[in-house]
Amino acid sequence: TPLSVLDPAGSPTIEETYAKMGANIEIARKSLGRPLTLSEKIVYGHLEDPASNPVRGETYLKLRPDRVAMQDATAQMAVLQFISSGLPKVAAPSTIHCDHLIAAENGADADMKAAKDLNREVYDFLATAGAKFGIGFWRPGSGIIHQIVLENYAFPGGLMIGTDSHTPNAGGLGMCAVGVGGADAVDVMAGLAWELKCPKVIGVHLTGSLSGWTSPKDIILKVADILTVKGGTGAIVEYFGPGVDSISCTGMGTICNMGAEIGATCSTFPYNERMGDYLRATGREGIAKAADGFRDNLRADEGAEYDRIIEIDLDTLVPHVNGPFTPDLAHPVDQLGERAVANGWPVEVSAGLIGSCTNSSYEDLSRCADLTRQALAAGLKFKTPFMVTPGSEQVRATITRDGLAKTFSEAGATVLANACGPCIGQWNRHDKDMGEANTIVTSYNRNFAKRNDGNPATHCFVTSPEMATIFAFTGTLDFNPMTDALTLEDGSEFRFTAPFGDQLPKAGFDHGEDTFQAPPADGSAVEVAVDPKSDRLQLLTPFSAWDGEDYKGMPVLIKAKGKCTTDHISMAGPWLKYRGHLQNISNNMLIGAINAETGETNCVQNLDTKEWGEVPAVAAAYRDAGIGWVVIGDENYGEGSSREHAALEPRFLGGRAIIVRSFARIHETNLKKQGMLPLTFADPADYDRITGTDRVDIVGLADLAPGKNVTMVVTPQEGESFEVELEHTFNEEQLEWFKAGSALNFMKKSITE
Ligand code: F3S
Repeated sequence: TPLSVLDPAGSPTIEETYAKMGANIEIARKSLGRPLTLSEKIVYGHLEDPASNPVRGETYLKLRPDRVAMQDATAQMAVLQFISSGLPKVAAPSTIHCDHLIAAENGADADMKAAKDLNREVYDFLATAGAKFGIGFWRPGSGIIHQIVLENYAFPGGLMIGTDSHTPNAGGLGMCAVGVGGADAVDVMAGLAWELKCPKVIGVHLTGSLSGWTSPKDIILKVADILTVKGGTGAIVEYFGPGVDSISCTGMGTICNMGAEIGATCSTFPYNERMGDYLRATGREGIAKAADGFRDNLRADEGAEYDRIIEIDLDTLVPHVNGPFTPDLAHPVDQLGERAVANGWPVEVSAGLIGSCTNSSYEDLSRCADLTRQALAAGLKFKTPFMVTPGSEQVRATITRDGLAKTFSEAGATVLANACGPCIGQWNRHDKDMGEANTIVTSYNRNFAKRNDGNPATHCFVTSPEMATIFAFTGTLDFNPMTDALTLEDGSEFRFTAPFGDQLPKAGFDHGEDTFQAPPADGSAVEVAVDPKSDRLQLLTPFSAWDGEDYKGMPVLIKAKGKCTTDHISMAGPWLKYRGHLQNISNNMLIGAINAETGETNCVQNLDTKEWGEVPAVAAAYRDAGIGWVVIGDENYGEGSSREHAALEPRFLGGRAIIVRSFARIHETNLKKQGMLPLTFADPADYDRITGTDRVDIVGLADLAPGKNVTMVVTPQEGESFEVELEHTFNEEQLEWFKAGSALNFMKKSITE
């Protein structure tokens, strides 16, 4: 049985995959001499050396993932990097998904046409590169990467990587699916092992069962409340317990998807009948059968130990609404209105948006359609604009066939293209001015400032699709559907009843249009053209190797204050179109970061010329003058997405080191891959001793070694120099990346040597 019927001939089968994994698990269990958790079985089952006795939170694992998935924004740079490796074909089953570049404005058809015109060059590049290098290509309109992976590629016990931070969505089918930067994808596509620091394991024990108003989203909103945006860092979140069986497979996908918001490496669930049902409904009986026979390896061993256990009783869990501006600020629905008033957040809702990779399953949309039908029957229409994003062409075709799309439209909704759209800032919004405070409710996963419409005053609350639907009918946040009623025009009261929906379509899925391009058996003759005059695509020039000298006299380009996510470092929205052009996209570097000296964004002083300028311009001026520079950052620097541009840009503009209180894992690795030095203060209080007008030396680089701290000498404009101790997490091989100038340089060297 193929892992996916869409994979090229000769790809591994599920039987081969499980046989190898089963043998590896045996070896790992024996050599560790203890029971294993589910995620340990999955991860250690994919080790190059299963007898290597990994230590959670310490060992760097060398893994062989089953597949790679890339979305179109990140695929451009990954494919450009793969091209520069000089290899003829990808070594692991891989796919590209066109979902991020489609802007929402006038509804599905018009938006799709506009996107195809606007992005033709990029789509042609990715389609031809896919054909040449053996990568499956999902055309624009096919849907959102994570939904397509769940429908076609995910399988229980699998290990995959994806160049998108919500890749963990595939945990809904019992995978360990990890969001990475494009550079990691290049490693796996090139046949090299993928390196991951052995994750810790957080167990979430679910008791009771989901019912009524509570939905799978509420579980992860609650987990985010408990663990915060950093709490999952370096860990896999593993759900278990009797409550699991009350969650649908796609609901488990939602929970795993949003595990990215707590910084988790990924999240996963044990294989159960719900997963079997979903596999069968999506034409994968063979996988379900194989998983049934492999079941013992698809759940934790009796007595397996977790680094931490969180208890959630689903019987008492109520709907949650999290936000604004951060996904871990949780409000039970009955307290939301009060808290909004107390905090001065606009109580009036200006838009409701449902769908996205997080919540666009048939079940989600059928529960929302049920609420919409109730409202229509009472004579109500949506009070605010309401947008529905189907996650895939299959979901779109099925909700259209089954009348759900019509129900939404009758109440005044707009059905958008099968794409990311407003979830990633691709929303040409016309009803609010920039800077105008307003509240939106979404069923998405991420709600940093400016993420959806570019407006810093848009207060985004993430919630279940059901609650987003309710708020679009009420037009205000201070409404609890479990207790409150709406007053109709005739003065009577209307109460919603708890939503009901089908987990899977009774009549089966309608596949809709065929939107997949399989790679030809031999793509060697396919031409991949990159126009040298293009402003969207640019072939890469390798970064230069480290010259063996210490870094001296480097100005602090910016001391960033507070949250500095990958959105602050490499903003999305309008910049997405330059993802394949390093020079052009570098003009957005750190323009969202707050300068600790001034409290302003995108304005720093050039310490040489004393002139103030935009961050990328000042960085480029230093680079052109042959001066390296550093960034000083706060906690969890680079949280958010797997965006490797956030690491490529500082390197391209001449940055040498990023020195912070702590890093988000993916960003730290991405910096290493690009030949940068990600360093952390041994004493976090040292952050306060440095200013944005200091210069620094990083010394002793020739002795850089795993586990050995580095010294930084800080020279303020006035006053004495002082030393600061910095930590790093480089291992031996990663140090070679630094010396070679980048992981890609090192990889090329190792392949050709
Ligand atoms: Fe797309 Fe938003 Fe998911 S950008 S992949 S829909 S998080």
